[in-house]
Parts: sequence; C-alpha cells; structure tokens
Amino acid sequence: MSINFETISEKIRTKSLKPIGRGSGRTVFALDEKSVVKAARNPRGIAQNIAEFDIFSRTKSPILAKIFGISEDGRFLVMERALPAYSMSEIYPHFSVQSSRALLKLPELKELSHNFGLILPDLGRAANWGIIEGKPKILDFGFTKLVKKRYYSFI
Ligand SMILES: Nc1ncnc2c1ncn2[C@@H]1O[C@H](COP(=O)(O)OP(=O)(O)O)[C@@H](O)[C@H]1O
Ligand SMILES: [Mg+2]
Repeated sequence: MSINFETISEKIRTKSLKPIGRGSGRTVFALDEKSVVKAARNPRGIAQNIAEFDIFSRTKSPILAKIFGISEDGRFLVMERALPAYSMSEIYPHFSVQSSRALLKLPELKELSHNFGLILPDLGRAANWGIIEGKPKILDFGFTKLVKKRYYSFI
C-alpha cells in the first residue's frame, strides 16, 4: 500500500477529513472505511506514532491493530480502522475472562508489556481497544514506559 502523506497533510489542513477520536498527543481522522490516520499534535504524539510503528514491526501479535505506514517525520501514522469498544465487557468474552484483572494476566498481554514496555493497566481501558472484523484489537499501543518517562514525567 503506497500512502501519500502530502495529500493526507493537505486534507487535514483544509479540514476535509473527519476527526473520529482524540487522545493527549494525537487526533485520529477517518481516511476511508478501512483506515484512519493518527496525526500528532505535539512531540509526544510523534513519539507515540514512532513507538507504535516500531512495536508493530517487531511483533506478529494478532491483538494489535495493523499499521499500514508512517510518515518520515513521524507526524502521521496510518492504521486499520476499528469500531470503538464502548466497554471492556465487549472485550472480555473474546479472551474468556470476566475482569480486567484476569485479562491483564493473559500471556499475550503480559508479553506485550514485557517485550515492548506497554503499560498494562492502560490495556484494561476500553478507550484503548476497538473491534476489527469482529475481533478485539489494541488501538493505542504507542504509550510505552519509555515514552511516558520522556514525555509525561511531569504527571
Ligand atoms: N484504528 C482506529 N480506528 C478507529 N478509531 C481509533 C483508532 N485508533 C484510535 N481511535 C480513536 O481515537 C482515539 C485517540 O487515539 P489514540 O491512539 O488513543 O491517541 P493517543 O495516543 O493520543 O491517546 C481513541 O481513543 C479511539 O477512540
Ligand atoms: Mg489514547
């Protein structure tokens, strides 16, 4: 998939993409039915985009939403589009658990935290999950311990 980041940047500038979500570092716009772009609003957003891309390229974990590409400067990251998860109770049955305590004990989640510094309690929040083709996926996985230490140490 070849992505034209100049076109994306221009579309955001002229407000022709619809914002569908917003976090502390990034605004998420729908590109089409199958993809979104995460646009960094500050250096933390860039760090999160870069961390997300790096983690995605280093793991085959099927519980991460797919990333299609990142702009050279890290400002834009194109990701598979999900339906938002409104509550963790939508996620638990897929993993045969009934609580976030039990979810966070699963090897596939512990591995992500251990190998890439993902912050486990964050993975227990519905805002970080979405549903793609009926399966639960983590959408926000760029907020690692390292990014937190570097950019959020004032919290
Ligand atoms: N792949 C996606 N598909 C659909 N919505 C998304 C996707 N990724 C993020 N969002 C929405 O955008 C919001 C902000 O994105 P997020 O990655 O959490 O940014 P930040 O890292 O700045 O917190 C999310 O809470 C979610 O509602
Ligand atoms: Mg977020």
